[in-house]
Amino acid sequence: MSRPNRPLSIGFLSLFAILLQVSLVTASLFSPSIRERAADTSDGATTNYAAWVWGENNSQFIFATQFNSDTGDIYFHLSAPTASSWVAIGTGEGMGGSLMFIVYASSNGKNATLSPRLSTDEVEPSYSSSIQCSLVTSEGYTNGIINDTYVVNAHCTKVLDLPGQKIDLTRTDAPFIFAIGPGSPQDINSNSVEAGIRRHVTYGDFTMDLTKATVTSGGAVPTSSNFTMTNAVQGDITGDRDWTGAFHALMMCGAFVIIFPAGVLVLRIMEKVMWHGYVQGFAGLVAILGVGVGIYLGRMYNHSKNVNSAHQIIGLVVVLFVIVQWMLGFFHHRSYARNKRPTLMGKIHRYAGPLILLVGIMNGFLGFDFSNANRLNIPYAIIVVIVLAAVGTMLFLKRRRKRKQMVAIEMGGLGPQPYQGARGGASYSEVGGDQARQPFSSNYDDRSRSDIGLSGPPSRDPPAYGEVPTQPRQMV
Ligand code: HEM
Ligand code: HEM
Repeated sequence: MSRPNRPLSIGFLSLFAILLQVSLVTASLFSPSIRERAADTSDGATTNYAAWVWGENNSQFIFATQFNSDTGDIYFHLSAPTASSWVAIGTGEGMGGSLMFIVYASSNGKNATLSPRLSTDEVEPSYSSSIQCSLVTSEGYTNGIINDTYVVNAHCTKVLDLPGQKIDLTRTDAPFIFAIGPGSPQDINSNSVEAGIRRHVTYGDFTMDLTKATVTSGGAVPTSSNFTMTNAVQGDITGDRDWTGAFHALMMCGAFVIIFPAGVLVLRIMEKVMWHGYVQGFAGLVAILGVGVGIYLGRMYNHSKNVNSAHQIIGLVVVLFVIVQWMLGFFHHRSYARNKRPTLMGKIHRYAGPLILLVGIMNGFLGFDFSNANRLNIPYAIIVVIVLAAVGTMLFLKRRRKRKQMVAIEMGGLGPQPYQGARGGASYSEVGGDQARQPFSSNYDDRSRSDIGLSGPPSRDPPAYGEVPTQPRQMV
């Protein structure tokens, strides 16, 4: 980085000034007050600063700063490789109460946006208009994305006056934190200081000797082509991975795309109504737990913490319907087992089921949009199409086979016989009819009496699950 230009003149006056400067700097070794005054020159920036440098030569993360203890202003240089969507420096030992300077690519991808934020907790920090920052554009300073590096030279006023701020200019080991976001600059590309940022992939802390970074008047952004660290102490660097989003997606999409449809097959193909109830109950539990993960995940980001997005509201409504749907199925089943009569609950359950599943599945697309992971919509769509096509085909084939069986029965008692009177039979189609025999089928109520098998002696056992009390057909 180039230094600011200084006018040079050869003459007695300037020679005198240089001698004076040298004597003041020498004196400063013995007297801090003289040292501070010595820094109140245009060159103060290069002599009075604290810097932290991390990384290899061509990909360094640099933070170099100077404070004006009178005005409470901070001047800083922040640069870091553009290998991530954002980089940030914060004051203090942790996220709670930290004043953060976050940098990401501007909308045209050429400039760097500086977003000063306050962090309350281990959640996405929020922009605060109480922090007044401007980029320093005077000669010698360049900001933007330069040679694959975010470069920001900034001046923020009165940061020492911010309530609860954590900057102690008297400390030689003043604590700071840094963090690096995931992805690449294109993931944000925004001029807005309030752009959403995703949780970091790396974070850590370091200390700086702020006694070396304080001036009492003036102030400038430190410049150097080779910053040297004022404090080499660097704490742990932690790799961080946020699994909650993936976990939420897996649970919710797993429930709606895989487990609920499997429960439908258990009913329609395997014809096990009790197992249908268990499988759908299990899927519902997975979905409820997934909502819990979604709510926890949501409080981490500004765009989701108020639970007012379409994705979250639709998701909550769908899961509420899932619970009601399960209860309808349960109470219908109980009533049916006792009375052998179709119920309104069963009918609603029959029609609402596919609708709820479809809305839940569609909400997955909204979820990927919401978390800025739109690229995952394509693989998700492929899985959804495959599953829906497979389930649709199986149901269609099963229905066709049953129709054929019915025709065969009606044509003269051929084919499998209706299974009348099986004790404890729980299958929804053991009675041998087509869909018309199933309580959840649309034409359940319209069943014809003529589908009662004629072969075999009448049984004294109670009728099978799917049967309604009936009379033998009148013989003519
Ligand atoms: C979307 C934005 C952010 C989210 C959701 C977030 C979330 C979190 C979470 C959950 C932890 C605890 C991680 C663990 O237990 O391993 C954490 C720790 C940490 N984060 Fe962030 N963070 C965000 C932004 C930032 C920024 C901008 C900085 C830096 C300036 C930062 C610095 C740190 C540091 C230093 C720690 C460890 C110390 C502590 O626990 O406070 N974070 N963050
Ligand atoms: C049918 C129900 C739901 C489905 C299928 C679903 C699915 C998804 C998917 C696929 C994602 C993307 C995850 C990622 O890219 O990491 C997502 C994100 C998310 N979902 Fe859901 N979800 C549902 C319901 C809910 C509910 C009820 C809530 C909370 C009330 C919720 C909160 C969230 C949040 C906060 C995110 C992440 C936002 C972010 O990372 O910025 N979801 N969801």
